[in-house]
Amino acid sequence: MADKLIIFDTTLRDGEQSPGASMTKDEKIRIAKQLERMKVDVIEAGFAAASPGDFESIKAIASIIKDSTICSLSRANDRDIARAAEALQAAQRKRIHTFIATSPLHMEKKLRMTPDQVLEQAIQAVRYARNFTDDVEFSPEDGSRSDMDFLCRVLEAVIKEGATTINFADTVGYAVPELYGNMLKSLRERIPNSDKAVWSVHCHNDLGMAVANSLAGVMIGGARQIECTINGLGERAGNTALEEIVMAVRTRKDYFDLQLGIDISQIVPASKLVSQITGFAVQPNKAVVGANAFAHASGIHQDGILKARDTYEIMRAEDVGWSANKLVLGKLSGRNAFKQRLEELGISLESETEVNAAFARFKELADRKSEIFDEDILALVSDEEYAHNNDAFHYVSLSQRSETGELPYAKVVFTSEGKEVACEGNGNGPVDAIVNAIDSKVQSGAELLLFSVNAITTGTQSQGEVTMRLSKAGRIVNGVGADPDIVVASAKAYLSALNKLQSKTEKLNPQI
Ligand code: KIV
Ligand code: ZN
Repeated sequence: MADKLIIFDTTLRDGEQSPGASMTKDEKIRIAKQLERMKVDVIEAGFAAASPGDFESIKAIASIIKDSTICSLSRANDRDIARAAEALQAAQRKRIHTFIATSPLHMEKKLRMTPDQVLEQAIQAVRYARNFTDDVEFSPEDGSRSDMDFLCRVLEAVIKEGATTINFADTVGYAVPELYGNMLKSLRERIPNSDKAVWSVHCHNDLGMAVANSLAGVMIGGARQIECTINGLGERAGNTALEEIVMAVRTRKDYFDLQLGIDISQIVPASKLVSQITGFAVQPNKAVVGANAFAHASGIHQDGILKARDTYEIMRAEDVGWSANKLVLGKLSGRNAFKQRLEELGISLESETEVNAAFARFKELADRKSEIFDEDILALVSDEEYAHNNDAFHYVSLSQRSETGELPYAKVVFTSEGKEVACEGNGNGPVDAIVNAIDSKVQSGAELLLFSVNAITTGTQSQGEVTMRLSKAGRIVNGVGADPDIVVASAKAYLSALNKLQSKTEKLNPQI
């Protein structure tokens, strides 16, 4: 029987560490639900001690998610570990993941600790974490630049203390596949109790080799857990991409011969959700989840595909969740059909009031757009959740004028703490005019870091989805808005970002 490969998703922790990707509690819950739907084995839900916001998110996810193990990161100290344990209390299956740096550079310059002190702290941390759960993961941070003899001492000692997973971290993306795989192999051979733990890989993508390094860690090094993120989101150049790992192991089962528990039909919905929430667009030529991943432009390829699909296709788009813009609902569709489609898409709105509100928005949209696709419904529900949870500002209406030779003008009406506010502004373009109009009342003092607009489906009738990333006093937030009119979508995105800047519960600082 083939070995199981454990998929450990860290989109909500390491992924969130990428600048600008910070998420609200509700957004994290939505992603966690999608990860559970996709059947990932372990969800690293955050870093409990990093902020009250992170703590609350982990706590909520731990009480909602039933099928995946929920994990919190913690530094190797009692306070962090106790905080992780507290956040994880309600989880059906919980893991504490503790780490400390082991490379000479990190120990000397960052921690200012001797190797013996690091060894002692690692032992203490695992011993303490075992008081709260039997499932304890230990990571030697910057492991791939650490001394092998020292790593052997530390890892043997933490396994003896009860660490059940050892995660060999390539923190700075320095590894190359063969060397990384061989380091792991050598660790497992040299450490006498190595068979008492599951070995894991955690690779960053600074040299574009995170997926290759992870797979070498599995094939050469014998790792049976891969840490990864949706769309490869993560610090700097990102982490190992979950979708690439899963599809590589599945498509080349002849070589890898490993079992996976993942429901691959949920891969594209997960990719879209993470991209929509974080505002990190997926490059079109990205493997598996990029818009062009299954597009054949050359005549020779198209001819081959028509004759036999497998001439140029090693995976099927529909298997990983690409749907061909299926027309699902229209103006005449009733509430029941709408509710059923929500269920089919795996969306569970909390109450009938929420379903009614989403249905009212659907009807409004159907009046303006004759064909409603799954993507429209997802955007609409996402708008609904934003509107529901961030109550400072709500979009009401907009009028806007642009003409060659004239300064663009916008009038925006929105509610602020329940009261209607009307404002006007000019700008060098329609979006600038909207932002200036809103800012004449809100005076946000925020800087716009990113503006992007994407068509949700094909065709000129498509809704535009706008992402705006704002920065203020060290905080970076993303706002998203969708509408068939991209100027309206921009106003909604701006108000959504302002709502997040106002939110007190959101995390104030990046994790580490
Ligand atoms: O990259 C890294 O070293 C990490 C550890 C905390 C596992 O994310
Ligand atoms: Zn990392």
